[in-house]
Amino acid sequence: MKKWTLIALVAAALLAGCSTQNTQRPALLKSDNAKGKELFERHCAMCHVTSKPKDRSKLIAPPIMGVMWHVKERYPNKADAVRFIVDYVRNPSHSKALCPSVKRFGLMPPLHLPEKDLELIASYLYDNFPPQGFKHPKMGKGMMGR
Ligand code: HEC
Repeated sequence: MKKWTLIALVAAALLAGCSTQNTQRPALLKSDNAKGKELFERHCAMCHVTSKPKDRSKLIAPPIMGVMWHVKERYPNKADAVRFIVDYVRNPSHSKALCPSVKRFGLMPPLHLPEKDLELIASYLYDNFPPQGFKHPKMGKGMMGR
């Protein structure tokens, strides 16, 4: 009898171990986009607008759909795009910049946010921008205000 109780306990412990492991979520799930959006709005949206601007002369940074258009042109793969954004935000530089608008706005100031938060933001941006049907205006005139 004692032996069976022991076996039952061991089995229960093993099962419990398995189920806690299963509840751990892999990084960058689509369902994390709500958190990414919230973080973007808190840390980035004051500079990067998310809809087509009415008055381009008031912009202090390129609208995010234009930014993501350039990022995806260079890094079509999500993992590469996320890695680029996480690195750029923490340490922007002229040599890394993909957006020609760096000439108009100057370099983005570095933001020291936790890597995990930046990954959530970057994943949200990759999944949502540019919106479907977006066409990047030709150089010379357009949303980049040049
Ligand atoms: C104080 C204003 C400001 C804030 C806040 C800001 N940015 Fe920027 N960002 C800029 C400006 C200006 C540029 C254009 C110049 C450049 O490329 O560095 C830019 C450019 C970028 C670029 C394009 C870089 C390239 O390849 O040219 C990315 C990506 C970006 N920002 C992401 C973010 C994210 C994500 C956040 C929030 C975590 C954020 N930015 C917050 C001002 C800002």
